Amino acid sequence: MGGQKNSFLRESFLNELGPVVSVPELEELRVRYLGKKGLLTAELKNLGGLPPDQRRTAGAALNETKEFIEHALGQRKQELKDLELSRKLASEGIDVTLPGSYVPPGRVHPVTQTLEEITDVFVSMGFSVEEGPEVELDYYNFEALNIPKEHPAREMQDTFYVSKDVVLRTHTSPVQVRVMQRKSPPLKFIAPGKVYRCDADISHTPMFHQIEGLMVGEDITFSNLKSVLETFLHRIFSPDVPVRFRPSYFPFTEPSAEVDIGCIFCKGTGCRTCKGSGWIEILGAGMVNPHVFEMVGYDPKQYSGFAFGMGIERITMLKFSIDDIRLFFENDIRFLGQF
Ligand code: PHE
Repeated sequence: MGGQKNSFLRESFLNELGPVVSVPELEELRVRYLGKKGLLTAELKNLGGLPPDQRRTAGAALNETKEFIEHALGQRKQELKDLELSRKLASEGIDVTLPGSYVPPGRVHPVTQTLEEITDVFVSMGFSVEEGPEVELDYYNFEALNIPKEHPAREMQDTFYVSKDVVLRTHTSPVQVRVMQRKSPPLKFIAPGKVYRCDADISHTPMFHQIEGLMVGEDITFSNLKSVLETFLHRIFSPDVPVRFRPSYFPFTEPSAEVDIGCIFCKGTGCRTCKGSGWIEILGAGMVNPHVFEMVGYDPKQYSGFAFGMGIERITMLKFSIDDIRLFFENDIRFLGQF
């Protein structure tokens, strides 16, 4: 009778197992047979009521059936998992032969190209690179550079004022002062960055870039300034371009000069770009005014130095024959893609 019961249990279990297609269904089936109130569990509980001589064989047979069911459940569970995985793999498959979506490559902005080229030239001459804030104290932008309160450069139409004492820097020269305050001579650095002036036309934008240069030591002379700038201009434009120093005025340098190169378009015979003069103005420079040294606590009797500053956009326009500075900032890919 025990044997009959066992084969009945196995048969009905297998009948129920046949159509099971999911793990939760399989779990339900397990509970129905092996759970606390399961069919097989009930039989096991009944063993106690059997006479001792039958209990043993009936028990062994039920345990075998239990193992049979457990094994079958385990096997089906693995089959279902494998099936699920292969379904998932099939649905998530990627067709690597489909054409990709095109991402056009970016380019280095022409102003950045020039900035990097200029930086490379000065670094090769032993200059280091410094930086300063674009939102600057009036003190560093003007006062410490010997630009008095009534100087025209301070007027509202040129300078963006953030508050009474804070401006958007109008040039990179305040970096001279900040570095000199922090370090002692000898110094030899450039300071590239953005500057701001309230001005807009074909050759002015409210934001543009400058590179400042400063060299301070025990016997730095105007000859050193001339040699450094000539070397620089010959490397950036061409080795045979003529360079000219014209007397000029900046409150923070004395003497001051404006530096021109022979017109690279007409070779000095006179054209529209050089306004017929044969020369193109490139940068401002001069020997550091002793007044500026005093304000940062350097002894002007012990130290001398030169400074220079130039606009990057202007040099980029000359290098690439661009006639409108605003093109740099319109972000038109047809323009930027040409460099
Ligand atoms: N800061 C000056 C300008 O913006 C340029 C300059 C820098 C001149 C250093 C002399 C020395 O016009």
